[in-house]
Amino acid sequence: MPQKITLLRDKLKSFSLILSPMEAITNPPFRKICKNYGADVMITEFISSDALMREVEASKKKLFFDEDERPVGIQIFGNNEQSLIAATEIAAEHKPDFIDINWGCPVRKIAGKGCGSGILNDIPKMIRLTQAVVEHSPLPVTVKTRLGYDESDMPVVSVAEALQDVGIEAISIHGRTRSQMYKGQADWTLIGKTKANPRMHIPIFGNGDIDSAQKVVEYKNRYGVDGILIGRAAIGNPFIFLHSQEALEGKSPSLISVRERVDVCLQHLEGLRQWRGERYALVEMRKFYSGYFYGMSNFKPYRIKLVTAMSYEEIYQIMNEVRENFY
Ligand SMILES: Cc1cc2nc3c(=O)[nH]c(=O)nc-3n(C[C@H](O)[C@H](O)[C@H](O)COP(=O)(O)O)c2cc1C
Repeated sequence: MPQKITLLRDKLKSFSLILSPMEAITNPPFRKICKNYGADVMITEFISSDALMREVEASKKKLFFDEDERPVGIQIFGNNEQSLIAATEIAAEHKPDFIDINWGCPVRKIAGKGCGSGILNDIPKMIRLTQAVVEHSPLPVTVKTRLGYDESDMPVVSVAEALQDVGIEAISIHGRTRSQMYKGQADWTLIGKTKANPRMHIPIFGNGDIDSAQKVVEYKNRYGVDGILIGRAAIGNPFIFLHSQEALEGKSPSLISVRERVDVCLQHLEGLRQWRGERYALVEMRKFYSGYFYGMSNFKPYRIKLVTAMSYEEIYQIMNEVRENFY
């Protein structure tokens, strides 16, 4: 068993704001922006362990991160020991601060194959595979998971204990079951119970439906978690990390000017272009415009132009108009 290089806890603040991993969203350009606005911990989008074993280029590209993203975790998913161990070794070569195992993804093409939250049907296998990863990883291992497979059985409190016993160093819990997918409201009660379990000593991070700085403070205080992951509410809104850090310090939120929104948006576009090329950047940025300019009245015609623009020049032209016409 490899000697672990560091304890993850030593690299974490007493309370961490984490950018929740999101496929095709939390790539290096967007992570850099979120880091600049105060996110404490980064996790890559999930990477298929089978694809890493087969050396698929698109998957290998997801392993990269910038030094200034640290602490950063590489997230892998899979359903068999051989590929999870191989992926762990490949990911460890990139020297992230930790390896995160995704036991939470509910989508059919993943969970249907027993990966992600599909494993919540077979907890002994989940524990066995996690133990195998821990034993073969030179780096700390963490897990991101859900409350359980469906509402009839939500064993997350005992599962967290068992995962801790096989050596994981932190756990992130999304307050939904696999069968809930993204429906309904996240239930944080069992996240709070996991944290309150006197046997737990590793950091416990809560996740699900955090969409404002006020909610960060409220849920931190109510459930006592060691950190909170913010996902969808950060899409086009990296400012939520700044506002959350401010709220945690009892400060009022900084105003984000239209000029700043435009600048960050263009920084994001440019980052994506450098990362994956112009066409990719133009298309991927469409997911973000409504977030970056949320709450600006009469913005709709500009948004429509942005999501239909076919060239960089057009985007820059529209952004100039936004700068001039909004304050
Ligand atoms: C578009 C999208 C992609 C996601 N991809 C991942 C992923 O790669 N790995 C992961 O652990 N969770 C993934 N998630 C789940 C989020 O990390 C998070 O757990 C979930 O959205 C709940 O948090 P939220 O309410 O703050 O969004 C994804 C969610 C979305 C919406």
